[in-house]
Amino acid sequence: MTTIKIRGGQRLVGSVQVSGAKNAVLPIIAASLLAEKGITIIEGAPYLTDIENLAHVVRSLGVKVEMSPAGRVQIIAENLATTEAPYELVRKMRASFWVAGPLLARTGHFRVPLPGGCNIGERPVDQHIKGFEALGAEVSIEHGYVEGHVNGRLKGTTVYLDIVSVGATINTMMAATLAEGQTIIENAAKEPEIVDLANYLNAMGASVRGAGTDVIRIEGVESLHGATHTVIPDRIEAGTFMVAAAITGGNVFVEGAIYNHLSSLCAKLREAGVDVEDDISGIRVRADKPLKPIDVKTLPYPGFPTDLQAPVLALMSRVNGVSIITETLYENRFMHVSELRRMGAEVKIEGRSAIVEGVPKLTGASVTATDLRAGAALVLAGLVAEGETIVNGIEHIDRGYNDLVGKLRTLGAHIFRTDDYVPPLKLVSSQS
Ligand code: EPZ
Repeated sequence: MTTIKIRGGQRLVGSVQVSGAKNAVLPIIAASLLAEKGITIIEGAPYLTDIENLAHVVRSLGVKVEMSPAGRVQIIAENLATTEAPYELVRKMRASFWVAGPLLARTGHFRVPLPGGCNIGERPVDQHIKGFEALGAEVSIEHGYVEGHVNGRLKGTTVYLDIVSVGATINTMMAATLAEGQTIIENAAKEPEIVDLANYLNAMGASVRGAGTDVIRIEGVESLHGATHTVIPDRIEAGTFMVAAAITGGNVFVEGAIYNHLSSLCAKLREAGVDVEDDISGIRVRADKPLKPIDVKTLPYPGFPTDLQAPVLALMSRVNGVSIITETLYENRFMHVSELRRMGAEVKIEGRSAIVEGVPKLTGASVTATDLRAGAALVLAGLVAEGETIVNGIEHIDRGYNDLVGKLRTLGAHIFRTDDYVPPLKLVSSQS
């Protein structure tokens, strides 16, 4: 089984290029189903298993998808063969549920497996269903499938999302693009990936206004066509490298990182004593003095992102003093804590908070990733631990990080994957 091996102790120094945002590419692939004619071209898409999996799901619906190594995804969705997504593909990646909104809007029907929970929480889709029903669809859950249908077109409406949900905002926004009349989504999620999706939808001929605020207005149109779109940089990957620089006391330029996508992380890193410099083409992070403990509470954007909670908890485990990390979005997103404890971290879980008592050193150990961000946190801890750390379960990491190992190695980390490890050549001495 492939693992990641790290020998800790190297300061990270240099520059790293951020890839395109996984959580922008996924909704855009789903939204491409709305195009009854023309080609969609997504530029800047990283190669990730989550993206590969969603490509398989839309291919199963009759959509042509080609992915090039250069990060270009070409999609033709003119002929849909079915409006039912297969269980064995959807179960691999819950964002597959985002094909429901486009299918409902374009064909009046969808039948998609109810996404199961995952390691970090139950993750229901009740707000997605609320959006579809508000638009006039009849939705039922039977035999593990969510099925929705509407006679004729969906009807524009005003819908208030009870929970600020990225997925429910995305699914409702996509469905509303072809509805009759205006739809107003209130209490909408404001993530940059939602803005990116809205820009793509408008390039397809939709009329979406207000994305990035908590009120999104969509004027329904008759039909949509394919469009070309370059995705935004991945703010979570960028944030992960920023924390990697901080935990190793390094000096790293994260090229392509957009400051206002990461303002909460930048504020918290500065509070901890990290130098964070916003440059027009990226963000520079320097940590050349002892850091201070900080308290962090995850919240919907622009609050502190839950997807950077595990990396920051790893950072705080090495900072002298007590930090309190509170996870408000997911009920079970501290599974990395037990693995960090195996490396010597002192962390107590009390309800939705982790009380982190920084320790003078972590020691390398064999640990296991439980979700992609927990996996990244274990890698970061390995960068600073004494000795060798072996991270198992790296299929989680491959879901959301494009060449994390290669990028960290260019910054000076002693890290490799065992599936591409080339042992150092044994120098044959001339005497032998
Ligand atoms: C997206 O998931 C991201 N995934 C997640 O990133 C991210 O953690 C999450 O947003 C929050 O920012 C993708 O973009 C592919 P939500 P999503 O709906 O849309 C509850 C990663 O690491 N909820 O905003 O599924 C839900 O249980 C992944 O890349 C309902 O109760 O998240 C959660 O507690 C992990 N009912 C909260 O809302 C619903 O109908 C936020 O979920 C929908 C959600």
